[in-house]
Amino acid sequence: MKSTPISNKLNIVILAAGAGKRMQSTLPKVLHTLAGYPLLRHVINTARLLFPNKICIVIGHGGGMVREAIPDDDLIWITQEQQLGTGHAVMQALPHLDKVEQTLVLYGDVPLINIVTLKKLIHATNNKQCALMTAILLDATGYGRIVREMKSKTIMAIVEQKEANSEQLAICEINTGIMLLPNQYLHEWLPKLKNSNAQEEYYLTDVIGMAAKLGIEIASAQPINTWEVMGVNNKRQLAELERIYQKGRANELLEQGVKLIDPDRIDVRGSLSCESDVEIDANCIFEGTVALGKGVKIGANCILKNVTVAADTLIHPYSLIEDAEIADNCRIGPYARIRPGTRLSSKVHIGNFVEVKNSQIALGTKANHLSYIGDSIIGKGVNIGAGTITCNYDGANKYQTIIEDDVFVGSDTQLVAPVRISKGSTIGAGSTITKDTPENALTLARSKQISISGWKRPTKRTNK
Ligand code: UD1
Ligand code: CA
Repeated sequence: MKSTPISNKLNIVILAAGAGKRMQSTLPKVLHTLAGYPLLRHVINTARLLFPNKICIVIGHGGGMVREAIPDDDLIWITQEQQLGTGHAVMQALPHLDKVEQTLVLYGDVPLINIVTLKKLIHATNNKQCALMTAILLDATGYGRIVREMKSKTIMAIVEQKEANSEQLAICEINTGIMLLPNQYLHEWLPKLKNSNAQEEYYLTDVIGMAAKLGIEIASAQPINTWEVMGVNNKRQLAELERIYQKGRANELLEQGVKLIDPDRIDVRGSLSCESDVEIDANCIFEGTVALGKGVKIGANCILKNVTVAADTLIHPYSLIEDAEIADNCRIGPYARIRPGTRLSSKVHIGNFVEVKNSQIALGTKANHLSYIGDSIIGKGVNIGAGTITCNYDGANKYQTIIEDDVFVGSDTQLVAPVRISKGSTIGAGSTITKDTPENALTLARSKQISISGWKRPTKRTNK
């Protein structure tokens, strides 16, 4: 999405100190992944689109793990030793907040908040006001309720569920938690917060009541989609948001002209770019950065991670491809495994149960069945027979196999590296090749075939 700088003076505080007990996990809540990336990573990525001049992250439970998982060096990490409430959490960031300017409060466990919605909130205010992201929910249970003055509809306070009277409980406008507050007021008000409430917590929401009492205008804005402000408290909510996110990605791809056999059965965990006439069958997973050229077709149940595939290549079902570059008009799979460091030129065929690792394979070469090709450089027009294995590892070190142009390797051959199969060589089936071969010759390395006439087959012994 195109994003124009809103204010490079904005401060952002992301609250991420909570334990997340309901996740029933030793992993801190904000490190659970959605679309392959930690919840907190999504929030940080969105926060960055506002070009803030600082992003402070309040951590607590598992803070060390959180910092390790998010190695960005421009973030300000603040430890909240005890989780004494959202107000207390923002207070920990106070020494880092500018004297003037505004602070946007985001939540590490509200991953799908959208930049357009945040811009709506920012545009709803000016430097002097406070602004709240509110939402209308059919079931407001558990949320803080937005209390407005009857006639003017001015926001007067936020009342937490546990403090609300029956009249307030009936309010269906809720506090999403996301708010924009002038730093000047935060510096004044946060130290005045009290924890004399049902949860004995310092509520950030109490600053809204303070602002209203001083006659400070409180603006509000609503998210474009309600799910943007939904938090993750348990695995069920995480799974729900994952599906919402993936549905969005699938719709984007469809709108770009990609043919998805079933938009409910695709997972994009990173960036997927597709040129025209790309077709993707059911249950494919794309991770990291994947680029598919014009006319590429991906069969069902494929997994592609950090891969580029050029025009008109077909990837047949159940193929697993990682950190590889695949040129145009290749045929891969079904059941191919292509591992990191592989580069395939045009018209290469890699068939079923073929594993390729850290190898370059030139134009038109085929390895169609049951092979292992590792640490190899293979020339043009080579045929690798079924069951061929490059023996690249001696138990301690790895060695290279070089196969020059127009080689024919017979089935069930072992090429013990380091070894060079010279141009035009033919290798007889079942050979174990340990020495370089000469050009344009037939090389065989196997015992001669003999026949024993009148051979008696063993018979089954009977127990007396
Ligand atoms: C808060 C709001 C409530 C709102 C709801 C939206 C307050 C007092 N209430 O309630 O009005 O409707 O969010 O979901 O703000 N956190 C810390 N440190 C703390 C406490 C919380 O970092 O000491 C973080 C948590 O990790 C979490 C977020 O702040 O990400 C919200 O805290 P939570 O305890 O879930 O607030 P709620 O009671 O749900
Ligand atoms: Ca919550």
